[in-house]
Amino acid sequence: MTNISGRVALVTGASSGIGAATALKLAEAGAKVGIAARRTDKLESLKSEIVAKGGEALVIAMDVVDAASVEAGVKKLAEAYGSIDVLVNNAGLMPLSDLDQFKTDEWHRMVDVNVKGLLNVTAAVLPRMIEQHSGHIFNMSSIAGRKVFKGLSVYCATKHAVAAFSDGLRMEVGQKHNIRVTCIQPGAVATELYDHITDAGYRKQMDELANQMTFLQGSDIAETIVFAARAPSHVDVAELFVMPVEQGW
Ligand SMILES: NC(=O)c1ccc[n+]([C@@H]2O[C@H](COP(=O)([O-])OP(=O)(O)OC[C@H]3O[C@@H](n4cnc5c(N)ncnc54)[C@H](OP(=O)(O)O)[C@@H]3O)[C@@H](O)[C@H]2O)c1
Repeated sequence: MTNISGRVALVTGASSGIGAATALKLAEAGAKVGIAARRTDKLESLKSEIVAKGGEALVIAMDVVDAASVEAGVKKLAEAYGSIDVLVNNAGLMPLSDLDQFKTDEWHRMVDVNVKGLLNVTAAVLPRMIEQHSGHIFNMSSIAGRKVFKGLSVYCATKHAVAAFSDGLRMEVGQKHNIRVTCIQPGAVATELYDHITDAGYRKQMDELANQMTFLQGSDIAETIVFAARAPSHVDVAELFVMPVEQGW
């Protein structure tokens, strides 16, 4: 087993949903967590919750699209705690719409946050892990990184990109630098993700879906992250495909 107690983790998109739940679980497992996002009020509340449970957290204001903000946040965490052992590349968004609606701002935003943002954070953290000759990077893909769904074309493209990048990264840094890489591909999780859908039809569809089946909770995904982080040091849980039992597609 890998002991994650006392290890330092950075979780992006920690202000809600899967990221907040993951930060909480990692802290409960004894890790010191850097909690990063744009909404620092939410991060302060999360920090209070973590501290109340005996954990340790550092609030980091970070826009993953802005490389300077990412670099500053990573530096702040490394200076506070001395290393970065676990990175959870989780920040992302999913504004669904059909392509013929040409919501191109949303297309670009998804590419910027889900792909370029993840690359920005990886580029900032990876040199430190290489220097340490250890580390574990989790990349948040999705079932949409394995299959394509109508209305999710651009989102699927970004999550396929994350899956491809993740596997390539694993091959390049595993043997050479002793860094583990895990790609996470959840089905439907009850979070704020669906609140950002501006297309009325898809928004209604997602609300109806939530009434038809029991979604996963952020904590379900967080548990799998802790499981993979705790695997023996020679084991890389390279993929986690986690589905609600009732999601039959
Ligand atoms: N919910 C699902 O069904 C599901 C399924 C598969 C995969 N996922 C993936 O899981 C990840 C987390 O999503 P979630 O479901 O937990 O949704 P969520 O509750 O909406 O959380 C998204 C997080 O991303 C952060 N974020 C967005 N843009 C950002 C930016 N520019 N810079 C920094 N942080 C940013 C948000 O923080 P701020 O707004 O405070 O910056 C928020 O903390 C995403 O990558 C999503 O694609 C979700």
